[in-house]
Amino acid sequence: MTTASFTPLGTPLSPAAVRVMLLGAGELGKEVIMALQRLGVEVVAVDRYANAPGHQVAHRAHTVSMTDREALRTVIEAEKPHIIVPEIEAIATDLLVELEAAGVARVTPTARAAQLTMNREGIRRLAAETLGLPTSPYRFASSLDEMREAIDRHIGYPCIVKPIMSSSGKGQSKVDGPQDVERAWRYAQEGGRVGAGRVIVEGFVRFDYEITLLTVRSRGADGQDRTDFCEPIGHVQVDGDYVESWQPHPMAPQALEKARDIARKITGELGGYGIFGVEMFVAGDQVWFSEVSPRPHDTGMVTMITQAQNEFELHARAFLGLPVDTALRQPGASSVIYGGIEAGAVVFEGVAEALAEAGTDLRLFGKPQSYVKRRMGVALATAATVEEARAKAKRASSRVRARPA
Ligand SMILES: Nc1ncnc2c1ncn2[C@@H]1O[C@H](COP(=O)(O)OP(=O)(O)OP(=O)(O)O)[C@@H](O)[C@H]1O
Ligand SMILES: [Mg+2]
Repeated sequence: MTTASFTPLGTPLSPAAVRVMLLGAGELGKEVIMALQRLGVEVVAVDRYANAPGHQVAHRAHTVSMTDREALRTVIEAEKPHIIVPEIEAIATDLLVELEAAGVARVTPTARAAQLTMNREGIRRLAAETLGLPTSPYRFASSLDEMREAIDRHIGYPCIVKPIMSSSGKGQSKVDGPQDVERAWRYAQEGGRVGAGRVIVEGFVRFDYEITLLTVRSRGADGQDRTDFCEPIGHVQVDGDYVESWQPHPMAPQALEKARDIARKITGELGGYGIFGVEMFVAGDQVWFSEVSPRPHDTGMVTMITQAQNEFELHARAFLGLPVDTALRQPGASSVIYGGIEAGAVVFEGVAEALAEAGTDLRLFGKPQSYVKRRMGVALATAATVEEARAKAKRASSRVRARPA
């Protein structure tokens, strides 16, 4: 794999352009695209539905099913990107592995990272069995009987059952006793991305708090590869979906050191340049690896108000071969704005009220369709302390309401 830098940057829409293709153009992709636009990079946004947030700010937009190998190959061959940036997990990653190996395009951070992390089995076995990182106890199962046996003989109650291919908590449930087992199996079958299949059963970790440790692998100004950490991000999850995050989350020095060590090992193994969201559970000085996104993380949206370079800018700089700065500027928080209604194009009430308080900001993603539980925007706030910032961000998000146009 080439580690060539993509400087000098060129002129978009000319033969001298550096071309980047985003696979997935949701709210996270949209911010990466805007960071690239500021550097004069030519950007192509791909998503499975028209007018996705990132489509609206790219040079060109394509609507393609990214799990469809041939459709994906066609758009890549037509656009000839230098760099491919997966923004979601559900992609025909075996094709990316082939294209990267053939030198057709570079995949961020690596095609293998995209492939391993789209499947909980790949990344969990790598973390726990190859690298020896601490994780919850786990077993995989391909049938209800196997799952029951895994729980009875190895994991015990309470435990968590997840489809091996899913995100945002889909198909995931807690199992408190034998009465929950069948329901959890069925729920996982409905929520899994590629239909019927395998699950992971994880022992329930009684953590004090959970964090995302944004970790950046980049080429330093001295030409050497380096790994930098952002301040830990704390967050609250409801049904496996993030509702609130803040930065910095205070950590005991020992726990922070362990978390950084885990993050350095897993991102080093996945390789390449870019940002990673390393999810971990913490109790006292104990730290468990949970999972990792080889891309910006939803809880990291808070960095749009807290850091000198937000997670999207860090990602863009890193995969372009440019130096990064992970410095925190000020404490802050983010609070998700949900659709709250099922409707087509909506209008947002309360935006002026949400922005009235000093130190607040807002992102409305521009999604063409609202669902009750769809993330439509995020409120951001900064304050002297994280506690104040959290309260302020929640006030701001609660003032914004979608209604049918
Ligand atoms: N073994 C566990 N013990 C305790 N809590 C857990 C465990 N696994 C998951 N959780 C809780 O459920 C949340 C979602 O789990 P996980 O990150 O594995 O799911 P996901 O579908 O990949 O979610 P996302 O895509 O939003 O990261 C975690 O952030 C944590 O709050
Ligand atoms: Mg997660």
